[in-house]
Amino acid sequence: MGNKYRKPSALHGDAVSKCTLPIVVWCLVGCVLIVHFYTSIFYGDGEEGDVRVRLNSHLLTRDLEKIEEESFFIPPPRVKRSPRAVKRKPKPKRHLSIIEEFLDENSQFRHLFFPDIRTAVGPMNNTENDELNFYPGRMWLDTHGEPIQAHGGGILYIDRFKTYYWYGENKDGPTYHAHQRASARVDIIGISCYSSKDLWTWKNEGIVLAGEQTNITHDLYKLNVLERPKVIYNDKTEKYIMWMHIDDANYTKASVGIAVSKTPVGPFEYLYSKQPHGFESRDMTIFKDDNGSAYVIYSSEGNSELHIGPLTDDYLDVTHEVRRILVGNRREAPALFKYQGTYYMITSGCSGWAPNEALAHAAESIMGPWETIGNPCTGGNRIFRHTTFFAQSTYVLPLPGIPGSFIFMADRWNPADLKDSRYVWLPLTVGGAADEPLEYDFRFPLWSRVSIYWHRKWKLPNAVLVDS
Ligand SMILES: *[C@@H]1O[C@H](CO)[C@@H](O)[C@H](O)[C@H]1NC(C)=O
Ligand SMILES: *[C@@H]1O[C@H](CO)[C@@H](O)[C@H](O)[C@H]1NC(C)=O
Ligand SMILES: *[C@@H]1O[C@H](CO)[C@@H](O)[C@H](O)[C@H]1NC(C)=O
Ligand SMILES: *[C@@H]1O[C@H](CO)[C@@H](O)[C@H](O)[C@H]1NC(C)=O
Repeated sequence: MGNKYRKPSALHGDAVSKCTLPIVVWCLVGCVLIVHFYTSIFYGDGEEGDVRVRLNSHLLTRDLEKIEEESFFIPPPRVKRSPRAVKRKPKPKRHLSIIEEFLDENSQFRHLFFPDIRTAVGPMNNTENDELNFYPGRMWLDTHGEPIQAHGGGILYIDRFKTYYWYGENKDGPTYHAHQRASARVDIIGISCYSSKDLWTWKNEGIVLAGEQTNITHDLYKLNVLERPKVIYNDKTEKYIMWMHIDDANYTKASVGIAVSKTPVGPFEYLYSKQPHGFESRDMTIFKDDNGSAYVIYSSEGNSELHIGPLTDDYLDVTHEVRRILVGNRREAPALFKYQGTYYMITSGCSGWAPNEALAHAAESIMGPWETIGNPCTGGNRIFRHTTFFAQSTYVLPLPGIPGSFIFMADRWNPADLKDSRYVWLPLTVGGAADEPLEYDFRFPLWSRVSIYWHRKWKLPNAVLVDS
């Protein structure tokens, strides 16, 4: 009815916008292209050296950036599962059934996700002349031939010692459910540390922060939760500072914990826990910037948003400053890195131990605003890309000597047997090739593409290996 009696002027307005809109759009496109042309000329002139570095690093990363398809047998959804699964609405999508298969410890496809010990990789187990090759998802053994226990971890490189230190959760205990509706857990054993010169041969340096066996009021009491430890070095106090997620078994404490050590291999002294800025804090990480300022990033408000804020100069506490970022996006497992002055972050969705789609985000200032770029997973197959290769982000490690190249570290959680969770390490590059067209967007700035490349087997370029 309204349309029928529309005023002529309104009709006229419509007609005008119909023919001018394309012209306006094309003018805008023209402007954008001109600006882009001039900025590329401007930067092209000024940064010849940078171009050369990029060409060189491109040669080094060519293999890392190879797009590798993975044929993956998709099992047809099995007919009868549990009465609950049948009743569930809406009907799960096809790839959800793969996730159910992944989570089912009796699945006939289990070996695809959790290859057995006969395929384990490590320095003591090197019959296939496989030295220094990463095999994402296979068991990974240390210099004693024991499976590496460093889940939800992060790596600190100490130039002075020319050594990498890998800190992570030691989950080498029985997996159980505290009550019927609780998710799978392992009692706190502590934080393990491993050291390496080549990022492949890992020596167990022991438990550098141990769980508490008897004192039930202690944060590290074994029935509590200790996750996602990250360590940074404070140049002023010359101490190693560990931040971690501290919780009770029901995840209601939602706090950060802080520990400190004089050496990278501990023992770390546990200081205290708190809710940073008075907010819930679950999955978290810390990031040390080039100028020495450090930040904590944590999932808050029921995991609906992330918060970010600077640490105090001694890295033992937060300051009063905090920003809410990616509000309403429901992201966790943040892993932050920086390249050419831009901050990047990989996050996961929130689906417990089940894998989900990763997203990359970028920001010009670490305090935000942060924009979502998209799913960085490249190659493999569609299911791999929608499940972060059946894993969840934990850390992104810069590769020294190759600007723009990183190792993406993720956990392939095994909720049926958490100690047997696997590590998925893959090359990540900024500005690299894509296997899908970019979702183009004329908003400024245009972020560089972040890509994580699937490889069944891969190796670091020799140039990045540390001399012993
Ligand atoms: C690797 O080590 C495990 C455990 O020590 C052993 O069971 C397996 O057979 C070894 N695999 C190879 C290829 O050497
Ligand atoms: C138990 O832990 C709490 C909290 O850290 C501490 O205050 C208390 O002294 C500890 N008790 C014993 C007996 O060690
Ligand atoms: C966790 O929740 C369960 C069930 O609601 C309850 O029985 C248990 O006491 C809680 N445990 C803690 C540590 O809060
Ligand atoms: C480091 O840079 C950030 C961003 O410009 C700034 O807020 C911070 O104060 C700087 N920190 C130091 C120690 O200069």
